[in-house]
Amino acid sequence: MVLIAPSLLSADFSRLKEEITALEKAGADMIHLDIMDGHFVPNLTFGAPIIKSIRPITNLPFDAHLMVQNPENLFESLAHAGVNCITIHAEAVTHLDRVLTQIKTLGLRAGVALNPSTDENKIKYVLDKLDLVLVMTVNPGFGGQSFIQSGVTKIERLKKMTKDYSIKIEVDGGINPLTAAACISAGADILVAGTAVFKTNDYQTNIQALR
Ligand code: DX5
Ligand code: ZN
Repeated sequence: MVLIAPSLLSADFSRLKEEITALEKAGADMIHLDIMDGHFVPNLTFGAPIIKSIRPITNLPFDAHLMVQNPENLFESLAHAGVNCITIHAEAVTHLDRVLTQIKTLGLRAGVALNPSTDENKIKYVLDKLDLVLVMTVNPGFGGQSFIQSGVTKIERLKKMTKDYSIKIEVDGGINPLTAAACISAGADILVAGTAVFKTNDYQTNIQALR
């Protein structure tokens, strides 16, 4: 069954504790943390201090999506804050192989995110270092954008490329029950969703609708 990773970006930030508890009760499989630096993307969110303060609220894995230039500067503080997986953007680093090794050395799961316009072959020579590939189906930076259809073909290609590895395929951006179905048939293992999970107070129904 596909895993659902609600993005905290769409939560009520004045009530993070209640929001995270509600997500866990509603059947979320992990918490997706969108970390933005105002450089790689034109928006700013949060970092290690906030993640550290919400870590005791839940045992769900923390899935950190770094939309950040020079992401390696953050790895150690994020590891100490308690994230379980770090996903960096292929477009934000020069030495992808080295940076993935740094994440693995900290004992964390490592992922690479690909913008909608980025060729999936970018990860061809680092497959042995990857736990996850994150297919962006919007241009990163904001919640609530429309799904970019070309991501579906990219998921199919990645499914073939990763068939001899235990690499999960995660999809992020514009996921709703309709686009979720297309991603699942193409081979997605994890769906990130902000708007679709938080659109009503009934998070459980919203999460079930995506599966
Ligand atoms: C976009 C973020 C996403 C975003 C998803 O830059 O990476 O995780 O919050 O939000 P929705 O589901 O609203 O597209
Ligand atoms: Zn994200």
